[in-house]
Amino acid sequence: MAMPDLSLNDVRGRYLAFFAARDHAEIPSASLVPENDPTTLFTGSGMQPLLPYLLGQPHSAGTRLVDSQKSFRSEDIEEAGDNRHTTFFEMLGNWSLGDYFKKEQLPWIFEFLTDELKLNPENLYVTVFAGDEEANIPRDEESAEIWQALFAAKGMEAKTVELITEQRASEVGMQDGRIFFYDSGSNWWSRSGPPAGMPAGEPGGPDSEMFYDFGTEHDTAYGEHCHPNCDCGRFMEVGNNVFMEYLKQEDGSFAALPNKNVDFGGGLERIAAAVNNSPDVFAVDELQSVIAVIAAATQKTYSENDTETKSFRIIADHMRAATFLLSDGVRPSPADQGYVARRLIRRAALHARNLGLDLNALAPDIVRTLGDSYAAAYPAVGEQAEVISTELVAEAEKFYGTLERGIKKIGEYLQNRPDVNGQQAFELYATYGLPIDVTIEVAAEEGKSVDVEDFNRLMEEHRDKSRAAAAGKFAGGLADHSDMSVKYHTATHLLHQALRTVLGDHVLQKGSNITPKRLRFDFSHPDKMTDEQKKAVEDLVNKQITANIPVTREETTVAEAKAQGALGLFEDKYADSVHVYKVGDFSIEICGGPHVDSTGTLGTFRITKEESTSAGVRRIKAVLTGNE
Ligand code: ALA
Repeated sequence: MAMPDLSLNDVRGRYLAFFAARDHAEIPSASLVPENDPTTLFTGSGMQPLLPYLLGQPHSAGTRLVDSQKSFRSEDIEEAGDNRHTTFFEMLGNWSLGDYFKKEQLPWIFEFLTDELKLNPENLYVTVFAGDEEANIPRDEESAEIWQALFAAKGMEAKTVELITEQRASEVGMQDGRIFFYDSGSNWWSRSGPPAGMPAGEPGGPDSEMFYDFGTEHDTAYGEHCHPNCDCGRFMEVGNNVFMEYLKQEDGSFAALPNKNVDFGGGLERIAAAVNNSPDVFAVDELQSVIAVIAAATQKTYSENDTETKSFRIIADHMRAATFLLSDGVRPSPADQGYVARRLIRRAALHARNLGLDLNALAPDIVRTLGDSYAAAYPAVGEQAEVISTELVAEAEKFYGTLERGIKKIGEYLQNRPDVNGQQAFELYATYGLPIDVTIEVAAEEGKSVDVEDFNRLMEEHRDKSRAAAAGKFAGGLADHSDMSVKYHTATHLLHQALRTVLGDHVLQKGSNITPKRLRFDFSHPDKMTDEQKKAVEDLVNKQITANIPVTREETTVAEAKAQGALGLFEDKYADSVHVYKVGDFSIEICGGPHVDSTGTLGTFRITKEESTSAGVRRIKAVLTGNE
């Protein structure tokens, strides 16, 4: 029998209780803003905050953990508006840190879905790993056999089918299968995707995913035939069992992690949608109560396929995401997390306008509603409702002001011209903060067009410039460009390489901060450094200084820089063309500069402190003396 509709709170509560009854310690969600991880802006999965423990460090709560992790994926901002993408979501997670493995995980999660939540097993389909010859990782027969037995216990014959690639899957279709083998393009999980693309030091493993079939008709726009990994909307992935047991090595091969771990991640919103047998994730109580606030203000109703449904969803999604980001301390701003919050609020404001509403008038009610819905799980939302509302209202007001000015400007442009050219559209964006879709819409109201192609070209140019600037900022971590800061910057490159030479190639920069008085350098390394190691690093750096080695710069592509073995950080922030700095043959790094011309001017390098900043990350403070 189907369950009555369940809220997110119900599903979360049942999941936590189910695994608590199986000896799992419940741990709280980490912040949406990762601590001590400058490589990523947001927590986007349950495993991110648990990385050190998956790598082998003992967790104080034991070897069996369960949680619901707040997650945010900014890459889904543009996707939001359909029935299954949300930028903010919760990822249910249960974790074995070298405790249980496949034989326990798959039966438990199947029991949870089918017996506890009463999902009809006929609507569940699963995928397993077909193996990866190149990476020398075997096929996962064991999981396929476990699944077969689980379906058999429900009186179902579960046929196994080889689909291998998504391309082939869309050509051959389901073939009456229940258990599908896919290759590492679909059934391997790491933070950086399939085995071949993983950097050394990254953990990953084969996974087994579970899909719920809503029985909707296949849409051939997504391929000839439907299959579990098809994006047409018939199948929704409700959970992923990652068997995290491998660690990528420097030479490209894979070694065993200290422990065989389980990382299960289940989309809370999606599981609730499956339980409610509605492919619309916005149908759950917590989002419906936000939608009700919007509907009451517009006198319009939210219903599937309504042309305004998209605006309802975007407002609900973006306001929930912005509220949670703000409750974790983010404030709208021109950079980093603050910029993403600003984008969410502005898009929500725009869609409110589409519905004839002002977001600033709606925001306080929405935040209050969210505070109530999430009172038990995330009390911070309700406790901070007032400041969150104030921030949202201020940002929305600012945006509407911008919008007014932009609309006026478009009117001026159109007085003298038949259309809005690329340069004008770009100026509206850069100076007035007017998104291109608004410019198009406003121009269209006057029966005029916008040169979007030329606008895109100018945007691309602008993006490249700001990426190169970001590369400089992040790679250097320079507070200023004073003479001493530049010296410390070059010393940081020497230190980075010296640490790798003395401690090993697992050492990678995790953060850097430079003032005219000292450098601070965070790097991956599991243990406290011994006095001998510190001395060896100091000696090696000082040797490069005494040798007065020239520092050279060349402009090249990311691929070429990597081929030369350059250390590169924060890769996704780089433009196609990058600067590579070399200190003789000793050090080579992608970096925005600036650096000294040769090392002889640095003085004497001395480590003043070596300490831990977080699990697996050490911090060095060091000074240069005798050169002031
Ligand atoms: N870490 C896995 C994921 O994010 C469970 O899908």
